Amino acid sequence: MSGVVIAPSILSADFGRLAEQVQEAEEAGADWIHVDVMDGHFVPNITLGPAITAAVREATDLPVDVHLMIESPDRYVEAFVDAGASVVSVHAEADVHLHRTLTRIRELGAEAGVALNPATPIELLGELSDEMDLVVVMSVNPGFGGQRFIRASVDKIRRVRDLLGAAADGAVRIEVDGGIDASTAGVVAAAGADVLVAGSAVYNERASVATNIATLREAAGSGAQGS
Ligand code: DX5
Ligand code: ZN
Repeated sequence: MSGVVIAPSILSADFGRLAEQVQEAEEAGADWIHVDVMDGHFVPNITLGPAITAAVREATDLPVDVHLMIESPDRYVEAFVDAGASVVSVHAEADVHLHRTLTRIRELGAEAGVALNPATPIELLGELSDEMDLVVVMSVNPGFGGQRFIRASVDKIRRVRDLLGAAADGAVRIEVDGGIDASTAGVVAAAGADVLVAGSAVYNERASVATNIATLREAAGSGAQGS
C-alpha cells in the first residue's frame, strides 16, 4: 500500500447527496476531502463557499482541504477556518501579501498551503518554506474538473521537491491537483507528490467511489508511468 494521501475532490460529486458522497469516500479509505472554492474572477467558474465547507466538515472526521481559487483570498481565510477547514491553500497569483496570509492561516489554527498555476515559477516557494505546510502543484489550469493532465507537472513536482529539500520529516507536503487518475497517479507519486487530489477519477459513473479510490491507491503505489 502506498503512503500517499488520497484527497477526493467533491467538485465532481453529486451535490444533491453531498454528505453521502463524502462518507462513501471516507469509508473507501480516502485520507482528506478536497473542497474547490471558485469565485468567477480568479477562475471563470463559480462553485461553493463556507456553508458547503461546513456541511463537509459535519459529514466526516477526515481533514478538510480547502483550495481557494479566489482573488484576494486573505479576505476569506477566517471564514473557511471557522467553517472547519483543516488546510487552506491560496494561489500565489491571487495574493500580493502571501507571506502574511500564510501566517494568518496558521494563527487561525489551520495548515497553510500555496498553490501554483502551471505557468507560475516555483522560486517564490524558497521565500516561504518556513511559513507553509503544503505546496499545491496545479497539473491543470484551475477552474474545472475533468481536464487533461499537463505532463510538465511531473518535472515541476521534482523541482519543488528539490527546492524544499528532501524534507525527511515531511515538513512541507507536495499536493498535485488536476487530471490525476490511474494513468498519472504513479508517475506523480514517484516524482515526490505526497497528496493526490482526484475529482472525476473518484466520482464518476464508471465505477463505485470505493473501486475508484482503490484503483488510484494501487496506481500511486506502483510508481509506473501510465499511458
Ligand atoms: C481544478 C480543481 C481540482 C479539480 C480536479 O480547478 O482545483 O481540484 O476538482 O478535478 P479532476 O481530478 O477531475 O482533474
Ligand atoms: Zn483543487
